[in-house]
Amino acid sequence: MEALLHNQTTAEQAEALENSRANPLRAHELHSSNYFQLLNSRRKLPVSLRRQEFLDVYHDSQIILVSGETGSGKTTQIPQFILFDEWASGKKVACTQPRRLATTSVATRTATELDVPLGEEVGYSVRFDKMTSETTRLKYMTDGLLLSEASSDRDFSSYSCVILDEAHERTLNTDLLMALLKMATSRRPSLKVVIMSATLNIDKIRGYFPGAATFEISGKVHPVQIHYLSQSTPRYCYCAIGVVKHIHKMMPEGDILLFLPTSGDIEMVCSILRHHHKDLTVIPLYSALSRARQQEIFKESIFRKCIVATNVAETSITIDGIVYVIDSGLEIRPVYNPRLRMSTVLTSPISKASAKQRAGRAGRTRPGICFRLYTEETHNTCFIPSAPPGILEGELASQILLLKVMGFDSVGTFDFVDPPHPEVYLRGLQDLHSMGYIDDKGTITPNGRVAARLSVHPKWLNAFLEGQKNGCLREMIDLAAIASTQHPIFSRPPPARFVADIAHQRFACPSSDHISQLNALHAYESAMKTENRLRINQWCFDAFLDRRALGEVVRIRDQLVTTLQTMLNNTKEICAPDDVEYDTQIRKTLARSFFYQCAIKNSGGNYYLYKTVHEGQPAGIHPESALCWGNKEWIVYSEFVSSGTPYLQTVTAVDPAWLIDLDFFQDENLPKTVTGDFKQPRVKTSLDKAREKTNKVEEDLISFEKLDLKDGE
Ligand code: CDP
Ligand code: MG
Repeated sequence: MEALLHNQTTAEQAEALENSRANPLRAHELHSSNYFQLLNSRRKLPVSLRRQEFLDVYHDSQIILVSGETGSGKTTQIPQFILFDEWASGKKVACTQPRRLATTSVATRTATELDVPLGEEVGYSVRFDKMTSETTRLKYMTDGLLLSEASSDRDFSSYSCVILDEAHERTLNTDLLMALLKMATSRRPSLKVVIMSATLNIDKIRGYFPGAATFEISGKVHPVQIHYLSQSTPRYCYCAIGVVKHIHKMMPEGDILLFLPTSGDIEMVCSILRHHHKDLTVIPLYSALSRARQQEIFKESIFRKCIVATNVAETSITIDGIVYVIDSGLEIRPVYNPRLRMSTVLTSPISKASAKQRAGRAGRTRPGICFRLYTEETHNTCFIPSAPPGILEGELASQILLLKVMGFDSVGTFDFVDPPHPEVYLRGLQDLHSMGYIDDKGTITPNGRVAARLSVHPKWLNAFLEGQKNGCLREMIDLAAIASTQHPIFSRPPPARFVADIAHQRFACPSSDHISQLNALHAYESAMKTENRLRINQWCFDAFLDRRALGEVVRIRDQLVTTLQTMLNNTKEICAPDDVEYDTQIRKTLARSFFYQCAIKNSGGNYYLYKTVHEGQPAGIHPESALCWGNKEWIVYSEFVSSGTPYLQTVTAVDPAWLIDLDFFQDENLPKTVTGDFKQPRVKTSLDKAREKTNKVEEDLISFEKLDLKDGE
């Protein structure tokens, strides 16, 4: 490697090094035989055939846009080309992915291709989980993680090259990185930026980087025959199972890829398919799976494979051998509604571009067939041409805060690829203001600076501060960790949903789902202390708790505890679970830190039990909740989910008396109609009642004290 000159290498030089018996990255080690096998196959990838051409473009330009069919070798090969070319710089090469799953998967693959242990020369870094070391020179990471690194290093100074992969997805984080990198390249001429995307949605990006070089890879694609349903069906899972069965029984060999929206759907369909077809290898693929299970999709199998995946298999992960694609036409998408101030997770129709991309997965190795579980008319009339960029749909508060920490004060005039909608932007500012992270002038406050650096959502800082006052800081940290895991700690596998609900009863707190979560976590931790590994698995299984999620919670929590060490040191006595005040203190802390997410019971025989306090949005309580019967007047909720029916999820009963001193609940700040009346009179009456009661208690106390005094005389 020492012979390679910085940014002057040729494909021939690099290939000679790759061909040698000894591993050029690890001088004393010989290549394994598996290495040469892989090398042989990856040399045939469309990208590899044009290595020299790519290097020529790379040497001549600072910003390069690479586009090409999925599976042409962009994600796995180009970072390696660059690694060789940048070796002499001594700096790292970063390659970002919008998804965790793809990040760990391609890092594993690239490490195998280079014949190095994962975490050494090739590593990955995603939130709360990383495998990197001093020797890491090629780092796959999520776009969110690079963004948070950028917040303390605007020049990306530890990298010689930053590759933004899957740029066509236009996630909010990738969009922000594009803006930051555009600025960084003008300050650091030695920094190279490569933007890679599938062959869709690229014109916008091209326009944003006018001087950039382009490199297009045309892969070989085979024709794909498309079949539609003649009539739409809401029962897409059963329909999909039927199609799999048909293919498996009637059609020539070739693997099947089935796209479903949620992990719940995927698990259900997988268990049914496994039950009915012993001669079919059924493999789920979604982000919450462990890394080992994710790798199963690439394993050889004697049977036909059927991979049941979310949209992660659309562009970011390529699986060879797929001949049949079954497309439900649906995906899960978090959409932020600024007017209602909530993120809703919706199962929504995909775009035409996604449908095309999904179908294309069938034609990678030979002509394929795609079964679309919707009608041609639905496709033509209901599907939008392509998904809007994340910046137009996301919640912006934490990103605005990050930019403010970096010193960009007027985010409104920031040079975005697509500027966010002014309303979303304003809501973001308002939210930051009510959280106390920016002041009236929009300048970031000291608390805001701390909040921006947290590894969890900035809103949690307020819960930590409030928890510190009330003696339940540790509980708030636990809750923040629980809220930040990939999937819920309570597992409810579809076939055993009711059994699971009964098993969860033992942790249930009648006035708070948050406390139920804490109960489950604490029970798990004490079981960990007494039981051995095997017994723990059984314990979790019996309790219907997700062991992996709990393990992740503990890791996130411990990491948070380390960052918040100073805060923990000067906290007052932590109140204990057997303390009479324990529940109250936690509920009060939640109320006072997430006051903007309160709901009040709906009057009369309304269909929906609750209404959010500020927006007046009606919603029910999720049936999983211990509070789902609606016997509490006020609640604070963690999520507003809406997949058809709007639900408040993870809720806690609160006393309005805890809220009456907050600005948010003063008469002048309650939402009013155009004529000046209160939009939600019930909220107003309820708050007034609470005020009256509190005043009365205070008066009583005062007269009591006076009485006391008299007695003393
Ligand atoms: O990024 P792009 O879609 O252009 O392709 P890639 O992800 O680099 O994949 C190139 C080839 O590597 C494909 O044929 C994949 O099947 C293979 N690959 C694999 O076998 N295992 C992985 N974990 C990743 C890629
Ligand atoms: Mg890729």
